[in-house]
Amino acid sequence: MPQSKIAGTGFYVPQNAVSNNDLTKYMDTSDEWIQERTGIKERRYAHRTNETTTTMAVEASKIAIERAGITPQDIDFIVFATLSPDYYFPGCGVLLQRAMQMKEIGALDIRNQCSGFVYALSVADQFIKTGMYKNILVVGSEKHSFGLDFSTRGRNVSVIFGDGAGAVVLQPTTKEGQGILSTHLHSDGESAEILAMYNPGTHANHWLPQKLADFDEAEIGEMFFSHDMIDKAQVFPNMDGPAVFKKAVVKFPEVIMEALTANNLTPADITVLIPHQANLRIAEFVQKKLGLSNEQVYNNIQKYGNTTAASVPIALCEAWEAGKIKEGDLVCLAAFGSGFTWASALVRW
Ligand code: ACO
Repeated sequence: MPQSKIAGTGFYVPQNAVSNNDLTKYMDTSDEWIQERTGIKERRYAHRTNETTTTMAVEASKIAIERAGITPQDIDFIVFATLSPDYYFPGCGVLLQRAMQMKEIGALDIRNQCSGFVYALSVADQFIKTGMYKNILVVGSEKHSFGLDFSTRGRNVSVIFGDGAGAVVLQPTTKEGQGILSTHLHSDGESAEILAMYNPGTHANHWLPQKLADFDEAEIGEMFFSHDMIDKAQVFPNMDGPAVFKKAVVKFPEVIMEALTANNLTPADITVLIPHQANLRIAEFVQKKLGLSNEQVYNNIQKYGNTTAASVPIALCEAWEAGKIKEGDLVCLAAFGSGFTWASALVRW
């Protein structure tokens, strides 16, 4: 049975860099607060009308495909992870297929937020292992800037997120020990609402936190989207930051250790850990817990903020471009996010 190798990586971030100080024009926040709590110095925002989640994905994909030594017409399956799709439906997979003039291949959209890319990689890995596909494009792309609450009300969330896209091409390899060694996926829906965007959605009031659940029942049945939802910030991401932090610092190390143990490896064997760029404080906590050196962990949240499904492939590509990942190296990808969902992948490059 073949294993899957990452044959090419690419990433794209918009030109427009937005500093923490820039955000103080819209909300009561400060560079000091943001850097101290999250490590973020700046993030990129896509052009309001000319750039979308899909157009950014196209740019990242072009690079990944070229580096894999193939053309868009060689791609035989797309797996696209995002929480900020161009449309509520259809998903971005088909838009990418159209924009890159690919054949009438399958296109699958993944909705696992921050762990979306690692989930997507795991799905693609199974298709390669069974021999069903030979060149799978796996993408994570987000345009958060379009859907954040930039008033002081939304500052605990809006300062964290940025836009960008990352992509990889997966191909089969029969080289002994090379490629994706294993992937590990988990979820716990008990706390689904503490990091969520409620609308547009078909939920009933009883799922919502009490502070948000007091709008007119009749309105829910009649309207998919209402002014009341906007007034109550239900159309923006909602997050209980401290609760997310507590769970993330447990599940990140756990799922990394699960991957290492499954392959009879230890943290010392990791060449580079690419954690989802949720928050620099979370990544530092994970690094300390696993006893990893600074060289063993790659972070770039300082420059791009949290790009959700795009953060792992952007960081992976940037680390590779910086020469931090070479043939034979052990790369660990790990993510935790809304759902909650969390996941890891261990790759022998
Ligand atoms: N600027 C200034 N003050 C702010 C801001 C801001 N941007 N945001 C919140 N505050 C204020 C709050 O209003 C609150 O003020 P109060 O004490 O007067 O009520 C105070 O700061 C503390 O608020 P908390 O939400 O308790 O802030 P906390 O210290 O926990 O930091 C943070 C918030 C950074 C989100 C933290 O909880 C955290 O790191 N959580 C992890 C979640 C995370 O990183 N999520 C990323 C996305 S999810 C993911 O990728 C997995």
